[in-house]
Amino acid sequence: MEIAFLQSVSYENGVLKILDQTKIPNITEFLEITKIEDAWDAIKQLKVRGAPAIGIAAAYGLVVGIKDAPENSFAEFYAFFKKQADYLATSRPTAVNLFWALKRMDERVLKEKERPVTHIKAALENEAHTIRNEDEDVCRTIGEHALTLLSDGMGILTHCNAGGIATARYGTALAPLYLAKEKGWNIKVYADETRPLLQGARLTAWELMKAGIDVTLITDNMAAMVMQKGWVQAVIVGCDRVAANGDVANKIGTYGVALLAKAHQIPFYVAAPISTIDLETKTGTDIPIEEREAAEITEGFGKRTAPKGVKVFNPAFDVTPNELVTAIITEKGILTGNYQEALPKLFKS
Ligand code: MRU
Repeated sequence: MEIAFLQSVSYENGVLKILDQTKIPNITEFLEITKIEDAWDAIKQLKVRGAPAIGIAAAYGLVVGIKDAPENSFAEFYAFFKKQADYLATSRPTAVNLFWALKRMDERVLKEKERPVTHIKAALENEAHTIRNEDEDVCRTIGEHALTLLSDGMGILTHCNAGGIATARYGTALAPLYLAKEKGWNIKVYADETRPLLQGARLTAWELMKAGIDVTLITDNMAAMVMQKGWVQAVIVGCDRVAANGDVANKIGTYGVALLAKAHQIPFYVAAPISTIDLETKTGTDIPIEEREAAEITEGFGKRTAPKGVKVFNPAFDVTPNELVTAIITEKGILTGNYQEALPKLFKS
């Protein structure tokens, strides 16, 4: 059975279309973006979220942003382009796919620099489409590799949302679950709710239910009990940045899940496209961790649940040390063992 996916990011005739993920599961609404400021805001406010989708949205956001760029000289165009790219780069700090996509767009500009600016603008639109289309293939391939680690009847726990709407299609961590469903396997998924923004409850549970996959929603603090009961045979999560030593940054709470998995001798898998691997970031401590507004914790979704004025710490991500990661699943294969040695090789092949 072929699974139908909603396209969370697309672009046509000068309009960037984004599925507003803050409204899921109650409302399925697409934003039509024609200004770079709105693309920036959509990324910042998590209307588009998930590392690969952020990269795709940034590429298209840049296409929108350079629409009115001067066309008389390359120098003038490039100065304008750089300013727009630098602006988008300030939207969120952790998912390296954002910077990866902007860099790829920059490289395309430089490759085309001898051509007229009108041509460069068209080339950038093509590059953004390529980034999007490649991600679809990459996610499918990650899913195929990841499926070799799973088997029919397994219980799988996931955290946050690394599904179809977080990417061009299929997702990363959720890709093998969709492929398993296509094969007719019976996989039982436990979705962590994922405090404080509830990506697991709002998005993962919604996505998997739509696909007819058996999903059970649990709050984050139930994961230990569910593992203790023997209901989970593998954990699989997505990732926002893999450092050169294999430390991985993902949604806050992932580190705790990895520790629980180790305590229960359950493999902990990280699914990540090459675009999420950042060899320039040496270790997890060098990964910039986004801190978000206190209100996400004290009055999330409009209801005050903590006293006014309380001190709050609200990091959006945490870092799982490489020794807790059983394998990193990429489109170029499955890495285990010494990530420091294995990761650079991916870029050579
Ligand atoms: O803050 P978010 O919702 O953008 O965080 C998303 C995650 O942590 C995902 O697991 C990660 O980006 C991988 S998405 C394929």
